[in-house]
Amino acid sequence: MRIIEAKNYDDMSKKAAEIIAAEVTLNPTCTLGLATGSTPVGTYQNLIKKYENGDLDFSQVHSVNLDEYKGLSGEHDQSYRYFMNTNFFNHVNIDKANTSVPNGLSEDAKEECAAYQALLERIGGADLQLLGIGGNGHIGFNEPSNEFKKGVHCVQLAESTIKANARFFETEEDVPKYAYTMGIGNIMNAKMILLLASGESKAQAVCDSFFGSITPQVQASILQLHPNVIVIADSDALSIAKEKGVF
Ligand code: GLP
Repeated sequence: MRIIEAKNYDDMSKKAAEIIAAEVTLNPTCTLGLATGSTPVGTYQNLIKKYENGDLDFSQVHSVNLDEYKGLSGEHDQSYRYFMNTNFFNHVNIDKANTSVPNGLSEDAKEECAAYQALLERIGGADLQLLGIGGNGHIGFNEPSNEFKKGVHCVQLAESTIKANARFFETEEDVPKYAYTMGIGNIMNAKMILLLASGESKAQAVCDSFFGSITPQVQASILQLHPNVIVIADSDALSIAKEKGVF
């Protein structure tokens, strides 16, 4: 695992975009595993700039997203499909038919999980998986638990996650209580993982995940076992690890 310290959010976003751009340049038909949340927004903006400058071509790129809220349609402005369209896909030349996000409106949760799992198996793992991290160490929507779930599943969101994500909804009651997410096995299948963390609110999760023991109570800690992980964290996100003298 390589841990790169960025000065701040902008620096983190630029560095992350450089790495993704290198992947797309080296492998124009790559599959990108993509993430939502406020953390990767700057990375997507930098990638859009590179595309607009004529330096990147997404025409043959495929993408698979980590997760989606159960119960939200792709047109809902807080769905992750809507997030991806508005923050990234609408601004580059990726073919939307080649982009996948779980369907939040599926009638049957089990069927949706099986269908997304089958899609991921067909693809055989992302070439590069982009990740943010929750304040409790979650990745995708793999919440603290007594186990690492392998495949795609429907998860009940932790109270802390609902509270953290309430800022995007009118009221806390509007935040969906369930979500579809890639499992840890799906994420670990990626050839390369790029995890981003910015701000003091992530400092404890960063310290526990990358400098502590591997435990399902801190789901991101499993990444210590992946052979090709890059973490780009800004100074604030590394502050607790630094205080403790482990970074
Ligand atoms: C959300 C998403 C995660 C994301 C995390 C952090 O709940 N499911 O994929 O990494 O929370 O979000 P943010 O980047 O907004 O802090």
